[in-house]
Amino acid sequence: AAGVDRTAEGEVAIDGITVSELKEQFGTPLFVMSETDFRVRARGFKDAFDAAFADICGGVDVYYAGKSFLCTAVAQWVAEEGLRLDTCSGGELAVAARAGIPGSKLSLHGNNKSDTEINRALDMKVGRIVVDSLDELQRIARIASGRGEAAKIMLRLTPGVHAHTHEFIATAHEDQKFGLSMAGDTTGEAGLSAAEEAVAAAVSAPGIELLGLHCHIGSQIFEPDGFALAAQKLLAFQAAMQGKYGIVMPELDLGGGYGIAYTPVDTPRPAAEIAEAMAAVVRATCAELGMEAPRISIEPGRAIVGSTTFTLYEVGTLKTVRVDSGNGQDGDGNVTYPRRYVSVDGGMSDNPRPVLYDADYSAVLASRGSVEEPQLSRVVGKHCESGDIVVRDVYLPADVAAGDLLAVPGTGAYCWALSSNYNYLARPGVVAVRDGAARLIVRGETEEDLLNRDMGVANV
Ligand code: LLP
Repeated sequence: AAGVDRTAEGEVAIDGITVSELKEQFGTPLFVMSETDFRVRARGFKDAFDAAFADICGGVDVYYAGKSFLCTAVAQWVAEEGLRLDTCSGGELAVAARAGIPGSKLSLHGNNKSDTEINRALDMKVGRIVVDSLDELQRIARIASGRGEAAKIMLRLTPGVHAHTHEFIATAHEDQKFGLSMAGDTTGEAGLSAAEEAVAAAVSAPGIELLGLHCHIGSQIFEPDGFALAAQKLLAFQAAMQGKYGIVMPELDLGGGYGIAYTPVDTPRPAAEIAEAMAAVVRATCAELGMEAPRISIEPGRAIVGSTTFTLYEVGTLKTVRVDSGNGQDGDGNVTYPRRYVSVDGGMSDNPRPVLYDADYSAVLASRGSVEEPQLSRVVGKHCESGDIVVRDVYLPADVAAGDLLAVPGTGAYCWALSSNYNYLARPGVVAVRDGAARLIVRGETEEDLLNRDMGVANV
């Protein structure tokens, strides 16, 4: 994150605040976020896409994907930097309301929205509800018309472009829970795809105002090609629907998924480069179709918040094992080498991504410098599972010892958001650093928090 440096003594500091001061004040594990960096990245995304699309549709609406990390402070920064907010549950809507974000700047996602969530979105006058299925379209139409209103909606389509992390494939199956399929006859109604059936239904349904189409092709994507191809497919479909049903859809959302570097092998492209590549395809496709470009919007989460944050852990137990490069049998001629296990005071409860996705992270000794030889290490958590790995392979100085602090960068997205209380660990707090001051934006849990919802023997 920006503002992260080493002091003259070799200790990691952010905006001049050392990690030992952070530990002293807030404890560990701790998520440490640079507010400055968050704002710069949020504004940077908005500016890059605005510039690339200026001549096409006057700019882009950027909806920060709250699922990656959300709290009231972050929702406010997002609004202050000129972005909007993408939510996907009643809980996220509640955070947005508490932050004072006007409904017109919000979207609501989800493949299984409850009636309560739909009503709440209508109460808050949410700018767009992204509809995931025909079933849901009918439910929203019924609820909104019952209230004498029209819900502003987008239809989430599956364009057959599926990104698998750094790659994408253009002929993927439609066998997944999200979205309306654009492929052939999926419903039994002669020749109509689910996507077209939804457009037809949305056009005629009372209580529905169809703003446009939406897609989200995946997450942690580095190359612009997948986004561009999806845009092309959606624009072609939009042109066909506008002609056939005599409508105009004023907006088009191309989702999120822009990747970040977790380790040096990751090489994402700058936002401006991706924006330019997407804009070129939108520009050319609209010209080819003879169609006025819709207002484009996007929903980045990870690319804004991911790299703004590191997790601070304290080292506890250490042990070294000898790893056999072969079949583990003695005398098989294979070399053995040492691997040191460095246990920290958190783990899969504050970052389940290594367990869930085999995600790679890095780690550095943060509380001091060291001139010792680097040693192959595995940073592990304190949970009762052997898969509880924080960083699979990292070289740390040979003298790392109990009481040292480690920093794991790149933990801003989908770490705190996915955290749990496994093994009755308290979830860490989140500290925001700006202009040389650190303040808590999410309080860490206490043992009392953990016991609060347990009804106790008296009630059993
Ligand atoms: N829009 C929609 C409709 C989404 O489903 C998502 C993420 C985003 C936007 C934001 O995607 P981003 O720009 O952050 O990649 N837990 C996984 C990632 C799940 C992404 C879910 N949807 C992980 O930790 O890698």
